[in-house]
Amino acid sequence: MPLKPGHVALGETELLELVRSQPRPQHLAVIMDGNGRWATQRGLPRVAGHSEGVKSARTVVRAVDALGIRYLTLYAFSSENWSRPGEEVSMLMTLLERSIHQELPELMARNIRLQVIGRADGVPHTVKRGIDHVMYETAGNTGMTLFMAFNYGGRDELVDAFRELARQVQAGKLRPDEIDEHLISTSLYTAGAPDPDLLIRTSGEMRISNFLLWQIAYTELWVTPVLWPDFGPHDLYRAIAEYQRRDRRFGGV
Ligand code: IPE
Ligand code: IPE
Ligand code: MG
Repeated sequence: MPLKPGHVALGETELLELVRSQPRPQHLAVIMDGNGRWATQRGLPRVAGHSEGVKSARTVVRAVDALGIRYLTLYAFSSENWSRPGEEVSMLMTLLERSIHQELPELMARNIRLQVIGRADGVPHTVKRGIDHVMYETAGNTGMTLFMAFNYGGRDELVDAFRELARQVQAGKLRPDEIDEHLISTSLYTAGAPDPDLLIRTSGEMRISNFLLWQIAYTELWVTPVLWPDFGPHDLYRAIAEYQRRDRRFGGV
């Protein structure tokens, strides 16, 4: 159910109050899209949009943490994004490494656990080392879990899970009949986290782009035309306020 016109007009503080007055999603997932278009519209190189996008990511992590949401998954680089020009790809790698390094003190201060999810193959050694360091340092944090989907593909994730289960069957540790939805869920990169309640996509594209294919079976979708570098707390609160008004039926009546 869309927000009433009155709600759309609410200011940031009122929206925040509204969001705080009702149960928040436990797990929020975001497809951070539109950096390139944001830059192109300003006559800037696409990479300028990615730098600006990092600022939105920082703002959103803070706002989500402040709302007490337990899990946040951000889509930063897909398994298909390798097909972009080499310069853009290497800039995205550097940007990720630099930003997680810079954010480490704040992640510690906020008690946030960072888990980078995706495949390691193809990721430059220095980037991998930086990721491992921040994951190691934050591993004991007990507040919000931040999943950063990087070199991530939903199908890759399923392939990896099924291969692992097949190995267990081959080793005689598992019977095929024992494979059920729960076991598959706990074999994914997001093992232990509940499925996302809400998925936000910016820049208006009405597609999933190989994100969390298994986990979003009953996730509520919210798409905004706002480009990721322009996305801020007000947009976040609007998305959550609309989510809170929805009737999640899960196939029931
Ligand atoms: C999202 O912005 C960031 C990544 C996919 C890495 P885009 O770079 O896809 O921006 P658009 O969609 O081209 O505007
Ligand atoms: C999805 O955005 C991936 C990320 C946001 C990291 P894309 O820009 O790659 O998706 P498509 O190509 O428009 O489907
Ligand atoms: Mg895009």
